[in-house]
Amino acid sequence: MTEQPILVTGATGKSGRRVVRQLRASGLPVRAAARNGEQVFDWTDSGTWDAALEGTQSVYIVQIDGTKLVRPFVERAIHHGVRRLVLASGRGIDNPDYVRDEDGVLEAIQDSEAAVRESGLKWTISRPGWFAQNFSEGFFVEAIASGQLRLPGGDGAASFIDAEDIAEVVVAALTDDRHAGAVYELSGPKAVSLDEAVATISAAAGRDIEYVPLTVDEYVAELVQQGVARAEAEVFADVLEPLRAGTDEYVSDGVWRALGRPPRSFAEFASATAAEGGWRLG
Ligand SMILES: NC(=O)c1ccc[n+]([C@@H]2O[C@H](COP(=O)([O-])OP(=O)(O)OC[C@H]3O[C@@H](n4cnc5c(N)ncnc54)[C@H](OP(=O)(O)O)[C@@H]3O)[C@@H](O)[C@H]2O)c1
Repeated sequence: MTEQPILVTGATGKSGRRVVRQLRASGLPVRAAARNGEQVFDWTDSGTWDAALEGTQSVYIVQIDGTKLVRPFVERAIHHGVRRLVLASGRGIDNPDYVRDEDGVLEAIQDSEAAVRESGLKWTISRPGWFAQNFSEGFFVEAIASGQLRLPGGDGAASFIDAEDIAEVVVAALTDDRHAGAVYELSGPKAVSLDEAVATISAAAGRDIEYVPLTVDEYVAELVQQGVARAEAEVFADVLEPLRAGTDEYVSDGVWRALGRPPRSFAEFASATAAEGGWRLG
């Protein structure tokens, strides 16, 4: 029997791209879906969903934050005979003190989790904390390139998780029923402060990079001066609240539980990223 493909949404993003690469390295057939993916898939155009889902066995769901599209998507997955769902969620989703939810982002992700749990299919939920890759391909990458990470993070820290580890957990869940019904909270092995993170990257990349702590007001004013709308700047400041408050310092055991080994450290992430040419100027 020909093996049915595994559908990976968010296939061009930080976790999805790695899931695609790892699955293919194991010789498994993959349908890599995104607006700019091999399989054109747009969450906001349900007309693209059926072609992505048709004939697939397992699906990695990377949702658009703040939307409630996972529930109808899961219905289509059931219709197409999908067996396993793995949902990208986030740490703190069930903690009302984690972050202010004025935009309904947490509520929408909670609804996605419920839709997956209630699907009747085999499901696994991945709940990562802050990605280490925010420093190399996400939120902080331009600041790191400029040599100064200017953030209202105080001396807060987080147990940053390497997206390679997230992908390995997701791949395990997409391919093995032993992970059915598991909620994996994913973090690195210890909390790393922004100061320490930047110093580690600076050493690995061989460049001078510093962390400059700002107050929330200073940060919002800087973004507004750069042309960001005040409301959006305030949302960015809110997103950083768990870092500032240290809410994301705790360590989770999901990598151990799923893979039976410790997560990669921030230093390992930094040296691997530098070796691959990350943070090279020009
Ligand atoms: N970054 C963190 O520290 C962190 C921590 C915890 C949880 N999370 C959660 O992880 C999720 C993001 O995962 P990620 O970082 O792996 O992804 P990402 O790097 O943010 O990439 C987003 C992916 O979604 C695709 N996408 C965006 N809009 C789309 C649309 N309308 N239709 C279809 N695909 C679309 C993008 O591809 P195209 O642009 O080609 O469509 C891309 O492949 C979010 O739900 C976030 O809340 C992130």
